[in-house]
Parts: sequence; C-alpha cells; structure tokens
Amino acid sequence: MQYKFCGKSGLKLPVLSLGLWHNFGFVDNFNTGREIIRVAFDKGITHFDLANNYGPPPGSAEENFGTILKKDFANHRDEMIISTKAGYLMWEGPYGDGGSRKYLLASLDQSLKRMQLDYVDLFYSHRPDPETPVEETMYALDQAVKQGKALYVGISNYPADLTKKCAKILKSLGTPFIIHQPKYSMYERWIEDRLLDVVEEEGLGTIVFSPLAQGLLTSKYLKGIPEGSRAAKEHGFLQKEHITSKVVSQVQSLNNIAQKRNQSLAQMAIAWVLRDSRVTSALIGVSSVEQLYDNLEVLKNLSFSKDELIQIESILRS
Ligand SMILES: NC(=O)c1ccc[n+]([C@@H]2O[C@H](COP(=O)([O-])OP(=O)(O)OC[C@H]3O[C@@H](n4cnc5c(N)ncnc54)[C@H](OP(=O)(O)O)[C@@H]3O)[C@@H](O)[C@H]2O)c1
Repeated sequence: MQYKFCGKSGLKLPVLSLGLWHNFGFVDNFNTGREIIRVAFDKGITHFDLANNYGPPPGSAEENFGTILKKDFANHRDEMIISTKAGYLMWEGPYGDGGSRKYLLASLDQSLKRMQLDYVDLFYSHRPDPETPVEETMYALDQAVKQGKALYVGISNYPADLTKKCAKILKSLGTPFIIHQPKYSMYERWIEDRLLDVVEEEGLGTIVFSPLAQGLLTSKYLKGIPEGSRAAKEHGFLQKEHITSKVVSQVQSLNNIAQKRNQSLAQMAIAWVLRDSRVTSALIGVSSVEQLYDNLEVLKNLSFSKDELIQIESILRS
C-alpha cells in the first residue's frame, strides 16, 4: 500500500480506502463482508469509511462492522482509521436528519454504540443542510472532538464556497478539520471546477467516493446486467436506466485503453482519480474479495501518458 498525508495534517491515509455503504448491511452476507475487511486490512487498507445510515437497514453496516472489529481486530484499533457521518435521514421526527447540533451529536453517540467504539478517527457532516446555520453544524463537529468522540472532522458533498466558510469557522475554533469527501470519477467531475483548488488552499485532504461510478466504470455491464450486481438490486442507487447504450459503448472504449495498459478498467478508473495529487485517497466499494484483489493491483500502475489522458477525454466527450 502507499500512504499519503491527508492535506497538511499529520494523518496518513492509504491511497485506497474501503467504504461500507453497500455490501455490509443485514441484507448482505456477513462472512463475505468479514473476509473483505480482513483482506483489506492485511493489504494495508487502514481506512474504513462508514455512515450512520449505511445498510440496509440503516445502521446495520455499523453494527456488522462493530461485530467484525470485536471478533478480528480487538488488538488493532490503533492501526485503523474509522470514519462515520451524519447528515441524511436516520430516524423519524425532526431530529433525525440534516445538520443540527441535536442530530449530529445524538447520531455520533448511536454510531459509537453500534460499532462498540469509544471514538471514531473521523466524523463528518454528510451533506450541507440549507435549513441549519452552517455555524451550528461546524460547532457540533467541534464539540464531537472536544468530547473525545472524534479525533478529526470532515465534510462531505459541500460546494466550494461553503467549504471555505467551514474552514474559516473551524480554524477559528482550532478544530482538526482535515478532509473533504466528494464524489469523483470519470463520470462525475464537478470537483474539478473549484473544489480541488479550495481544498488545496485550505490544506485539506480529499477522499473521493464512487471512483468506479458504482460499478459502471468496470467491465461488468458490457454484456448486460449480471445477477447480484448493484444495478440488479432493488435497494442500491445504481439503476438499470443508468446503463444506457451510450454508456456501454463509452465503457467498451475505455476498457480497450485499460487493456493496452495491462489493467482492468476498474484499476484504470481508480488510477485516473488518483492522477491528481490533491486527491489523497480513492474510496472504493467491493462486493467480493476478488474485486478487492483486482482493485489492489492498481498500485502497479498509477501513472498515465499524455496520450492516454487525451484518448480518455475524447471518449468521455463523445
Ligand atoms: N459521502 C457520501 O455522500 C458518499 C456517497 C456514496 C458513497 N460514499 C462512500 O464511498 C464508498 C464507495 O462508494 P461506491 O461503493 O459507490 O464505490 P465504487 O467503487 O464506485 O463502486 C463499488 C461497486 O463497484 C463494483 N466493483 C468494485 N470493484 C470492482 C471490480 N474490480 N470489478 C467489477 N466490479 C467492481 C461493485 O459492484 P457490485 O456490487 O455490482 O459487484 C462495487 O459494489 C462507499 O462505501 C461509502 O463509504 C460516500
């Protein structure tokens, strides 16, 4: 594994991190999830990313992760970076969603209980809440650190200007705000406009989620929708409608470039997000140990020639 400092902080993150959004809920096979986490850790993936609502049902990924930690990682807590978040709907009524102090701090307590932990390494505001003053949300993150329940804090899905504002507030409080978690892949490039400049200016790290566009940027959908894949499942966010003939033809062309690089398309898509030095870590999901092994091979070739990048751009613009 390779590790990079998270912005200007002293915390190093692996360039590949593992997310538990899908594949780790009560609806999934517990032993597969357990095996994935064990292999990931053995391969140097020290960072595991969760959120209160991951499952389904919401909360079950944290609960399963807590069980796995207890069974397999009791002596390894200090070698792991565990994150969780609050921001999306978690429980009924006015206090289980958004960015209020009430929600964030109660949710963090619940997450710690589910994971059977005393603290998380990173606690995020999962999304901006236009109905809550951003100061309140940031003070809640600061409070989580002061309570000893989080070592560092981060924000996810915040636009560039609001990120600047958060940085200013948290700097004034002396809060260890070290990371932004946005979506980024060949198919989702909003962060190139300004956010990457802002995170650099503010000395933050960037961990990018869904670098494989939830599996689209792999070879798996080239010949239809395989049984058991995310697009075939009822709960997941990747829908059959996303797999259009245009996408399949683009993915086929990208796959041809990957093959010339002696890489799988999944590996090339991960290398592509990591080509920007401001990206600290690619946050992947996997549904099997085989996918994890495949993705780990990316470390053998992370660089691109100018020509390859031009070819990729022209496919994406086609
Ligand atoms: N902050 C936020 O708002 C937010 C939002 C979304 C995600 N996240 C974080 O980001 C993490 C990753 O998100 P993601 O799961 O969407 O990431 P992703 O890496 O883009 O997609 C993961 C999916 O791609 C497929 N895949 C992975 N490796 C493969 C391979 N080598 N060959 C073929 N298929 C492969 C698998 O799909 P199948 O299941 O079909 O096999 C896997 O479930 C989440 O777990 C979460 O921690 C954060």
